[in-house]
Amino acid sequence: MKDLLRVNNLSIFAPTAAGEVPLVRSLTFNVSGGERVALVGESGSGKSVTARAIMRLDPGLRTQGEVLFDGQELSTIPEEDMAGIRGGGIGMVFQDPMSALNPLMRIGEQIAEPLAARGVPRRTALAKARQVLDELGVADAARRMWAYPHEFSGGMRQRVVIAMALVAEPSLLIADEPTTALDVRAQEQVLALLSEVSRQRGLATLIITHDIGIVAEFAQRVMVMYSGSCVEHGSVAEIFERPTHPYTQALLQAVPRLDGPIERLVSLPGSSPRPGARPVGCPFAPRCSQAVEKCRTENPELLTSGGHGPHEVACHLAHMEVTQNA
Ligand SMILES: Nc1ncnc2c1ncn2[C@@H]1O[C@H](COP(=O)(O)OP(=O)(O)OP(=O)(O)O)[C@@H](O)[C@H]1O
Ligand SMILES: [Mg+2]
Repeated sequence: MKDLLRVNNLSIFAPTAAGEVPLVRSLTFNVSGGERVALVGESGSGKSVTARAIMRLDPGLRTQGEVLFDGQELSTIPEEDMAGIRGGGIGMVFQDPMSALNPLMRIGEQIAEPLAARGVPRRTALAKARQVLDELGVADAARRMWAYPHEFSGGMRQRVVIAMALVAEPSLLIADEPTTALDVRAQEQVLALLSEVSRQRGLATLIITHDIGIVAEFAQRVMVMYSGSCVEHGSVAEIFERPTHPYTQALLQAVPRLDGPIERLVSLPGSSPRPGARPVGCPFAPRCSQAVEKCRTENPELLTSGGHGPHEVACHLAHMEVTQNA
């Protein structure tokens, strides 16, 4: 299928007193039309800055590389065209619904806003807002359109934010931790809803999460990020069957089992390096129980790993095994 979003060698730098610090390094990936891709990794790995760089939301950060949406290079188009793409061709949902909503505006008006901004008449825009609320399972949408955000629960507010993102019928949705701020029950409901809407609309979705359980439930393909780089990428089936990077293996071991206690089974000792304090060699080496000398001196490239379907990994050990077995 054709690439809808293509990110080529995206690097993101933050200015500091001591010079520029790389937050994301040479990230390359694509999302095809209708495809659901997950970006997973622990806190600080660069997931949100990547999403925000695609949308050009952090003008204080310098980016390098290409971001092609529907064949159009987003990093060079005028800001007013970019503003049209936000909430237009690309819908966005962030972690905290409250910060995305105006507390003083009725929710129907807020959902209709992206259409109104595109010159759609108010009545038509409101009718469409109501229709999207219906689609998102908000009972009695015709009445509840006139409520204010504080009258809604967290889960309902996030549905409103999703409705805002969907009202202009985007072809791509970027959802950054869309359920993290919700209670467990609302998390499940909102995730199920997103999944259903993505499937029904044939909506390509880039979902960002630190929860590998959400990856399994929602996505078809996954990229694992560590310290600003992609360390493993592949189809969800392939990554869950054959996790190859020791970091991915640790993430998978940390999934709470449905039949067991909810706490993490294994917690990965240590923490990921701060941007600017990334070691030479593999960024995961200081926490990796399998690291050898080469891991501490040479940064491994993301290379194709044997398996069924797409699978790439940036790990010297994986490629040594492949070479030895060849
Ligand atoms: N505007 C900014 N200026 C400077 N540094 C930033 C900026 N935004 C983020 N960072 C740094 O970039 C790194 C990646 O941050 P990012 O928010 O992308 O992480 P994340 O993977 O989304 O983590 P989380 O799971 O906590 O949301 C972090 O070290 C963060 O402190
Ligand atoms: Mg984030």
